[in-house]
Amino acid sequence: MSPKITVIGTGYLGATHAAAMAELGFEVLGLDISEEKVALLRRGRTPMYEPGLEDILRRHVAGLPGSSGRLDFTTSYAEAAAFGDVHFICVNTPQRPGEYACDMSFVDAAVESLAPHLARPALVVGKSTVPVGSAARLARRIAELAPAGEDAELAWNPEFLREGFAVEDTLHPDRIVAGVTSERAEALLREVYAAPIDGGTPFLATDLPTAELVKTAANAFLSTKISFINAMAEICEAAGGDVVRLAEALGHDDRIGRKFLRAGIGFGGGCLPKDIRAFMARAGELGAAEAVAFLREIDSINMRRRVHTVELTREMLGGSLLGKRVAVLGAAFKPDSDDVRDSPALNIAGQLHLQGAEVTIYDPKATENARRVFPTLRYAGSAREAAEGAHGVLHLTEWREFRELDPAVLGEVVSERHLLDGRNTLDPALWRKAGWTYRALGRPTV
Ligand code: UDX
Repeated sequence: MSPKITVIGTGYLGATHAAAMAELGFEVLGLDISEEKVALLRRGRTPMYEPGLEDILRRHVAGLPGSSGRLDFTTSYAEAAAFGDVHFICVNTPQRPGEYACDMSFVDAAVESLAPHLARPALVVGKSTVPVGSAARLARRIAELAPAGEDAELAWNPEFLREGFAVEDTLHPDRIVAGVTSERAEALLREVYAAPIDGGTPFLATDLPTAELVKTAANAFLSTKISFINAMAEICEAAGGDVVRLAEALGHDDRIGRKFLRAGIGFGGGCLPKDIRAFMARAGELGAAEAVAFLREIDSINMRRRVHTVELTREMLGGSLLGKRVAVLGAAFKPDSDDVRDSPALNIAGQLHLQGAEVTIYDPKATENARRVFPTLRYAGSAREAAEGAHGVLHLTEWREFRELDPAVLGEVVSERHLLDGRNTLDPALWRKAGWTYRALGRPTV
């Protein structure tokens, strides 16, 4: 019989993982400590915007018309422990306020709450991004707490999903990494992931610390790629080059590759910024701080993008922001997401506001979340409404609908036709033809 699966924590990662496991044919019980979240999920709804996720939920959540009934949610650890053979831990590990290190309290609480109920053979599988060494510590804790003794084991199986592509990335991952300490654990994980493995996804069994590190190292590498091209954007601005053409030419070298070489206002979100900081903190604890000292530079280059964008806006508006109307297109940290955690777009909008500009933001999905962070900013229901009377328009999150904007139509409502493309994804020729000055980061201004 197929193993039964529980998923502990139903945020981005957990809700998607639970839905994907049900889609693959497993019986799944999702657990969250928030009754509100559980109630929402039981109606087939998610607390966040993630393309395709609600469709899968509705196909499987028990009690919904026409559903497979394979997926349900609870707040009870006792129920989860009685139900599952494999327990995925998907809770978040945010940055601790005022520190680089990540906050492990949610992972620790999940293990402390689950383990005492594990009375029969069970595999606890960590998916959260954690400092290397956590898995070994948690394995010891499970051994101490679980009534099943050695029959309750721990494995580590990092998740690489991207927001906006969460469903696709979960159902069709690039690779499956499994940190295991027994053949039984490896066999069980191979069974859970039989569908993607049969579809050709590589399955890499490793020890626990390597599995934890794959995730941290991948995010450090991706951040480095983005900050590298953003550093080149700084050089291009100083030397009069064009970073978009530079990236294109670099990307043709297979060893470098084209992806993650988009220069702009930098990276944000709930993962990359906090993960590189947590990596630095953990390396320090391990006495290996020097090995990742470069990540401090990666972080600084990234944060400089935001300040630089504010300066470019000031310059674009004639040297002062005071009383200037600025339309900001985009608040989410990236398109197809309503997530504003450490969003460069929202941070820049906030800085402009604090420096005296009258900022109006439009984002197709993230307005509500943005309003919670910056209630004093203005929010519009469309790009056109945001641009009314603006002295400058900032393109800060590359939603598809912004690429499809007609510059001539937008030009009719603004006060002055100044555009700053913070993502380098709009067509400069099109905007110039419609009478706009087009500025970008790392490209010549015309
Ligand atoms: C990231 C990792 O990609 C994923 O594997 C991991 O599991 C979680 O962290 P995510 O945070 O969803 O995923 O977003 P991602 O698509 O990686 O983008 C991160 C940030 O980098 C965004 O702010 C994006 O705008 C920025 N970015 C990305 C660039 O500025 N330039 C690029 O070329 C690519």
